[in-house]
Amino acid sequence: MNAALEALIARERQAFIAARPQSATFARAAERHFAGGVPLHWMRDWPTPSPLYFQSARDAVVTDVDGHEYVDFCLGDTGAMFGHSPPAVARAIAAQAPLGLTTMLPDVRVAAVGEGLAALFGLPWWQLTQTATDANRAVLRQARMATGRPRVLVFDRCYHGTVDETMVIMGEDGATLPRPGQVGRIHDPVASTVVVEFNDIAAVVIALARGDIACVLAEPVMTNAGMVLPQPGFLEALREACTRRDVLLAIDETHTLSSGPGGYARARGLAADFIVCGKAIAGGVPCGIYGYSDAVAQRLLKADARRESGHSGIGTTLAANPLAIAALAASLAHLHVPATYRVMEARAQQLASGIEAALQRHRVKWQVSRVGARLEFGPAPAPRTGRQSVQAIDHELEGALHLYLLNRGFVLTPFHNMMLASPVTTAAQVDAFLTVFSTALDEFAPMMRAT
Ligand SMILES: Cc1ncc(COP(=O)(O)O)c(C=O)c1O
Repeated sequence: MNAALEALIARERQAFIAARPQSATFARAAERHFAGGVPLHWMRDWPTPSPLYFQSARDAVVTDVDGHEYVDFCLGDTGAMFGHSPPAVARAIAAQAPLGLTTMLPDVRVAAVGEGLAALFGLPWWQLTQTATDANRAVLRQARMATGRPRVLVFDRCYHGTVDETMVIMGEDGATLPRPGQVGRIHDPVASTVVVEFNDIAAVVIALARGDIACVLAEPVMTNAGMVLPQPGFLEALREACTRRDVLLAIDETHTLSSGPGGYARARGLAADFIVCGKAIAGGVPCGIYGYSDAVAQRLLKADARRESGHSGIGTTLAANPLAIAALAASLAHLHVPATYRVMEARAQQLASGIEAALQRHRVKWQVSRVGARLEFGPAPAPRTGRQSVQAIDHELEGALHLYLLNRGFVLTPFHNMMLASPVTTAAQVDAFLTVFSTALDEFAPMMRAT
């Protein structure tokens, strides 16, 4: 590692530790029963020398147990995209809480929620899950059921949750390989999955001609390997290729819900056979959803009539519980509306142009990609494939920058340089970030130029 970067990281780690004794105490106590002092191992992925314990999170601000406030541009890695504890959602779950938390019975708001989802996403049929991961898992099963075909096509360096079929990468020779690092894997990805590069329509066309692909599962903008925007015409050509080969197109809007009400497909007029969403869909209360078209519903009904009796292999006990329904109903009424997106868009635009200006002033050849309220900055040129995007990431530099910003009151997601603007993020908070970001570049720019 570059000596200047090493010294900077040591300085920032020391500053973090000195100012956060309470966080360290909570982490030490938790370490007795939780590896690394955290209840979800992902919480060790932050660049901090020990876990940051939080006290409260409201609107776009997180307060830690040592009393430090942070403007939050991570927003729970999207779960809190509409701000922490949106008042309408907080009120709805508080009202529901004494009236039943989980019953495995439908709630009186179900019909209205269905109307709301259909109007928002433009697909008529819906099911609820607990997470986006589970929604994707269900969609893959249903797509295989509807088409009678075994495989799914995904794009290299995609992420759709911890779904076995999608935990793959593309090898140098184009082969489908297991994504490295998986724990306890027995699933054979070659049996279930074909992987091609994003934006490579010729590869998609060749793969779909195999005749064994049930569905393409895609984010319309790749957001989990840095950000990879679709090239003009790519998504339209993908839709056409799927239709020509009778392959179902499943669009995962879990992150691209940042694009506008109903997500990217809705905003761009892309017709999906399935839509998946989770994370922010119920304002931060655990809830996943998937929807499908009338044509898919007809095929599922026919296949279901032929199905032998037994467990479907789809579903979890607490899915669609009344707390999730209450939160989803409130979110549909108050969050998934143009007014919230107008603010998110404006703040994200302010962030993007401010970051671009700071990079230019410091003569750093990096770029900003944006999809509505979500943006990502990284080395130029903007990547066209997941592989290009991943190869451009310098994890040490990125971790150092995030720690520097965190020590000065700003939280970015631990995975790459992703930022989200919520409807309750203020213009003053964005300005404050841009001032500190520009100061950070005084130190970081020479190292960024070298990447
Ligand atoms: C596009 C996409 N789909 C699905 C998921 C899975 O979400 P969850 O972990 O909430 O199940 C993620 C998580 O990052 C995601 O980015």
